[in-house]
Amino acid sequence: MKSILDNRPLLAEQVADVAEVAGYLWQKGWAERNGGNITVNITDFADDEIRNMQAISGIIPIGRTLPFLKGCYFFCKGTNKRMRDLARRPMENASVIRILDDCSSYVIIADNPVKPTSELASHLSMHNYLISKGSNYKAALHTHPIDLIAMTHNPAFLEKDRLTYLLWSMIPETRAFCPKGLGIIPYAMPSSFELADATIKELEEYDVVMWEKHGICAVSENITEAFDMIDTLSKSAQIYLTAKQMGFTPEGTSPEQMEELKTAFNLPK
Ligand code: 13P
Ligand code: ZN
Repeated sequence: MKSILDNRPLLAEQVADVAEVAGYLWQKGWAERNGGNITVNITDFADDEIRNMQAISGIIPIGRTLPFLKGCYFFCKGTNKRMRDLARRPMENASVIRILDDCSSYVIIADNPVKPTSELASHLSMHNYLISKGSNYKAALHTHPIDLIAMTHNPAFLEKDRLTYLLWSMIPETRAFCPKGLGIIPYAMPSSFELADATIKELEEYDVVMWEKHGICAVSENITEAFDMIDTLSKSAQIYLTAKQMGFTPEGTSPEQMEELKTAFNLPK
């Protein structure tokens, strides 16, 4: 079967990276059934032939106008599709969409008419925000990490930057590789514009945000970096949890040690 990836090694590489990360999400236990979603802005790979490809779906409204997405192309996990299947057969469990000139609707152009994720409102709102800021970020990842979600069931952890400092203090890498920390978004209905708006608000300050009692969302230059930030935060949560299971509250690195790291790595916060 013909694929949009044929003779496009750079685009194929992007999709292979998504498939690799989808496999990790399943292996981590973060992707029950169809849990989680991935979108990648692939506009840079849209050559003339892609721009002239016929739609294989009708026109689908986004539900809002996203002016910076005019003529953009996204690789999107399909709604109700499993990460473990995306890992094995990415083009059967995702599709490529083109945002139309009205900036409020899209069509699917390849390979199969797989309807994009139910969290498309949040994903496209994030991409629109990132482009508006001149960011080079292309990937958005939402997943359901057990440890970090569990922490959002404790109201004390929902205070601004409480989890940021706690997780940073578990292991120096977390501060170095997730330097803006972790934003917190109060519970909102999955797939809602309310969730999308709260998410882009927090992106002004953070690259990774928790959706209370639901999951986590990260944006980065590419899907691997987005995964790595969540993986690092989850490692910190695991260290906290392991210490608690051993019967003590972990001490955490001291404010002085944190400050030293901030200077050494030239960190923003
Ligand atoms: P989709 O299968 O529609 O991507 O939904 C999964 C999910 O995690 C919703 O928040
Ligand atoms: Zn979810």
